[in-house]
Amino acid sequence: MTSLAEDLRGWIAASRRRVAAASLEPRLDHIGRVLQVGDGVATVAGLPETRLDELLLFEDGTRGLAVDLGKETIGCILLGGGTGIKAGSVVKGTGEVASAPVGEGLLGRVVDALGRPLDGGEPPSLQRMAPVEQPAPAIVDRALVTVPLATGLLAVDAMIPLGRGQRELIIGDRGIGKTAIALDAIINQRSSDVISVYAAIGQKTSAVARVIDAVKTYGAPERCLFVVGEADAPAGLQWLTPYSACTMAEHFMQAGRDVLLVIDDLTKHAAVYRQVSLLLRRPPGREAYPGDIFYIHSRLLERAAKLSPERGGGSLTALPIAETQAGNMSAYIPTNLISITDGQIYLDPRLFYEDQKPAVDIGKSVSRVGGATQAPVLKALSESLRLEYAQFLELEVFTRFGTMVDERTRKLIEHGRRIRAVLAQAQYAPLSLGEQVALLTAVAEGVLDELPLERIDAFRAGLGAWLARDCPGALALDAGMAALPEGHAGPLKAALLALADSLKQAAKDAGRPA
Ligand SMILES: Nc1ncnc2c1ncn2[C@@H]1O[C@H](COP(=O)(O)OP(=O)(O)OP(=O)(O)O)[C@@H](O)[C@H]1O
Ligand SMILES: [Mg+2]
Repeated sequence: MTSLAEDLRGWIAASRRRVAAASLEPRLDHIGRVLQVGDGVATVAGLPETRLDELLLFEDGTRGLAVDLGKETIGCILLGGGTGIKAGSVVKGTGEVASAPVGEGLLGRVVDALGRPLDGGEPPSLQRMAPVEQPAPAIVDRALVTVPLATGLLAVDAMIPLGRGQRELIIGDRGIGKTAIALDAIINQRSSDVISVYAAIGQKTSAVARVIDAVKTYGAPERCLFVVGEADAPAGLQWLTPYSACTMAEHFMQAGRDVLLVIDDLTKHAAVYRQVSLLLRRPPGREAYPGDIFYIHSRLLERAAKLSPERGGGSLTALPIAETQAGNMSAYIPTNLISITDGQIYLDPRLFYEDQKPAVDIGKSVSRVGGATQAPVLKALSESLRLEYAQFLELEVFTRFGTMVDERTRKLIEHGRRIRAVLAQAQYAPLSLGEQVALLTAVAEGVLDELPLERIDAFRAGLGAWLARDCPGALALDAGMAALPEGHAGPLKAALLALADSLKQAAKDAGRPA
């Protein structure tokens, strides 16, 4: 009996303490109800305090983004499957905008737009959360783009040079090597200190896995981050992916680092946005895209910048990718993007199917700011190359009709073919500045003119090792050099001639006409 009375007293005392410690302050929760839900969007009523882009929390733990604020209702994009949400479910306003985790801990990881790991690892250790939508750096905080961003692809570095802080669109039809160009640019950063962020939007999981594998095999994965909203992810997450990736990249830029952000691709991003907008019953505009389609991409790409020395001097280079239909560059989304970026690398399906890879159409591609950053020694060589190549393309059209040509024209055409062969390049084999300069020197000096076309690949592949042995000075080039160092031009030419001769001899030995 006594023990029961003691137990009771103990229980009463504990309860008193709990009641005394309990906070009886009033608490304010903004609560609304779901009116409609489906296809990745929900309509919510009763949250009059909600701000644009605020995160809403549904009963089943799913988060949503308030993107449409009506007088009575709110249109919300779901950032999860939302299978537990029903009409009448409770929704809470969080008062927070969508944020992504940022920090060094993300490097080497694969995460979704909210920073949750997709690589089976632990959640990344993080420094802080940052809003996914941030204002672009102001004009006074920016500096001129002056440092080159080497992609290791001769066709790009020589003809359409990129600078750190630039925005360059990679545009072309389906399956003709758009991702491959961006991927090679990422892989080439293994020999620089640039951090790469790859944002995949609406891609097949297998395609994303291929990119990640390639970076792991050939690149520097410990300096890369993959932000993935694959094709079967909720539409809201796909939509958020480029903004989150940009926020994660900006963190490094603000710390004074150079970052390369690849957005693969914005055509799919626009389609996801069109899908949720139509579901939210926003008025459709041209090609059923909502009216602010230009703005959603410009506010993203404006965040790419080269910061001034006072702001740390970091940079964010953006390589957005866009898909065209049947080479139509002037379709709605591609033209929007072309007008937002500082140039485009246009890929031509005809070139791709003729096995000219990367299928960069030099004539339709431009880089509006990168030219100023190009290594002077490369610039001097590529300027004449561009002219000779354009001339060759015109001449070639004539010879296609079987026209008889004189000796001089034949030579020009043979030379042009060598230029084209040199601009082709296999994947995952980036060239250093020294190798690029050596290759272009070989073209300019006519070293390749007598070499059979099918041997050019071997020439390129063997170049690095050959020069390392015979002319190491030519490989140790600096981007700031105006010309080859004193006394190097002669040995370089001799080494190039010797390599060409050895390949010609090999061709002869193999019984092929040299
Ligand atoms: N320089 C190259 N040399 C050899 N093969 C290449 C080269 N560039 C691309 N390819 C091949 O072409 C195919 C298509 O490339 P990729 O996936 O990059 O194209 P895409 O334009 O990104 O396609 P999608 O529209 O599906 O995203 C791939 O199999 C790739 O390996
Ligand atoms: Mg692709």
